[in-house]
Amino acid sequence: MNNLTPKRLLVTGGAGFIGANFVHYWLQNHPGGRLVVLDVLTYAGNRASLAGAEGRPEFRFVHGDIRDEALVERLLREEGIDTLVHFAAESHVDRSIAGPGAFIDTNIVGTHSLLKAARAVWLDGDESRPGHRFHHVSTDEVYGSLGPNDPAFSETTPYAPNSPYSASKAASDHLVRAYHHTYGLATTISNCSNNYGPLQFPEKLIPLCILNLLDGKPLPIYGDGQNVRDWLHVEDHCHGIELILESGRVGETYNVGGGAERTNLQVVEGLCAVMDELRPEDSPHARHIEFVKDRPGHDRRYAIDERKLRGELGYTPVHSFEGGLKETVAWYLANEVWWRPILSGEYREWVGCQYGS
Ligand code: NAD
Ligand code: TYD
Repeated sequence: MNNLTPKRLLVTGGAGFIGANFVHYWLQNHPGGRLVVLDVLTYAGNRASLAGAEGRPEFRFVHGDIRDEALVERLLREEGIDTLVHFAAESHVDRSIAGPGAFIDTNIVGTHSLLKAARAVWLDGDESRPGHRFHHVSTDEVYGSLGPNDPAFSETTPYAPNSPYSASKAASDHLVRAYHHTYGLATTISNCSNNYGPLQFPEKLIPLCILNLLDGKPLPIYGDGQNVRDWLHVEDHCHGIELILESGRVGETYNVGGGAERTNLQVVEGLCAVMDELRPEDSPHARHIEFVKDRPGHDRRYAIDERKLRGELGYTPVHSFEGGLKETVAWYLANEVWWRPILSGEYREWVGCQYGS
């Protein structure tokens, strides 16, 4: 049973895509508590994503690394944190293929560092208190790849990660589970599918394609475009995490999905159709689609069985994929001030040159 009303949160990776959306969602729905963001601001972290939260008395931004155990211990104590929501990670599969080292350091060593700090303060330290929660945000990619007729991933699907990214997330999930089982840390884990929505760094499929279209660049589709992902609107994901924090059972894992399986080609064609409507041109935007060399080890299909979250905690996603995609495109069109500064030299060097055509 959960006996905690989360009031004082430490959110790691709160300047990233999902973390920042969670910060806004939480502050809007839970005014009057405390929310501290800890973020080291890698290429994927963006302080501008937290505009709107920055001026609020409940909010504090700390520029620091999750691997700095002393800093995390100090923050947990001085802020009287009862709930740690752990988003911070290296999150892009393609970058993990190019350089796995940072994924081991941040996702495995960093998560372990947080667990050690949480254990020291909440279980062993002078300020030991019964009401605490360590919530770890993970991915469906830990379960591996599905065939076209396989049942969707459930919480009991065996782990079979295929990329350095998913292997590092799987390792961190196991560490979180072990800290609960061995030391009694009050943990929960959520494994979610591909998120989309505002504030996503434009290396991921949907924002990459939106910005490429605005720049008149090709839309690179890996392989045959028939790989399937189960798309989850980031706001639905935030709601799922909220339910788990408030009512989830300690020691449990919950899958969070959007109930929207689409091939990559369907996603990009859908996006082009939205652009035809919002930014019409002489000929359809889909003319920019280009099939390029496949990602090595590219997982074929992900799909989430979210019956546990729906049945136990009453989760219902409210965004349809088509409606959410249109809103997302509209958000990028209206927020050039957010994405324009990201399109720096580092970004241009990285994006679009991974596998070639
Ligand atoms: P993101 O890459 O957009 O943001 C990651 C954030 O973590 C950045 O702000 C970065 O600065 C911060 N960070 C990285 N290393 C850090 C460190 N050592 N110390 C402190 N901060 C650090 O990632 P995202 O897409 O928002 O994903 C958030 C979480 O959700 C990740 O754990 C990811 O594995 C998981 N997830 C994401 C998706 C998705 O579709 N985006 C799907 C499933 C699971
Ligand atoms: P991505 O957004 O990188 O998420 P993930 O790899 O975690 O699922 O990719 C989503 C899907 O889109 C995945 O099957 C890879 C594919 N993809 C492309 O076809 N072209 C691209 O340029 C990118 C970035 C991804």
